[in-house]
Amino acid sequence: PAPGSEITLRVNGKPHTLYVDHRRVLLDLLREDLGLTGAKKGCDHGQCGACTVLAGGRRLNSCLLLAVTLDGAEVTTVEGLGDDGEEPHPLQRAFLDRDAFQCGYCTPGQLCSAVGMLAEAAAGHPSHVTDPAAPSGRPVALDRPEIRERMSGNLCRCGAYPGIVAAVEDVIR
Ligand code: FES
Ligand code: FES
Repeated sequence: PAPGSEITLRVNGKPHTLYVDHRRVLLDLLREDLGLTGAKKGCDHGQCGACTVLAGGRRLNSCLLLAVTLDGAEVTTVEGLGDDGEEPHPLQRAFLDRDAFQCGYCTPGQLCSAVGMLAEAAAGHPSHVTDPAAPSGRPVALDRPEIRERMSGNLCRCGAYPGIVAAVEDVIR
């Protein structure tokens, strides 16, 4: 058998103990083992962002991340963004209001990425648009170019970018 390890992680608040093949990536574990099919496999190469989830509050491409490295981690997928499946996350509501999708394939990744991006911006992480040398902790103005830059790892082949940026602007207002 392929080498593997037992890991424990929480996904959307639920604990899971799983034996994982060391070669298994988080995206496959989420979709195939846990039935959480919100995160999508677009490129499977870290290029499109469709597989973006949050781990420890940071946005990550789950197609590139070996599941075994997540022992003890707290993972949030699009299924866990809202309030227990009852109330959508404000950003999900804004995506609806702004028609920020067409086919929807990129949307779970866009949502998780935007939630992570807002946390990064709130923590003062600089981006290329602001000033990469800016000290962290400096407040960042999230104007349109800044949002576009910070969301540039999430591609949308339908070109829903104007709606996506407008939805992000809605939640930061
Ligand atoms: Fe992970 Fe494209 S599927 S970045
Ligand atoms: Fe179709 Fe973004 S809505 S890829």
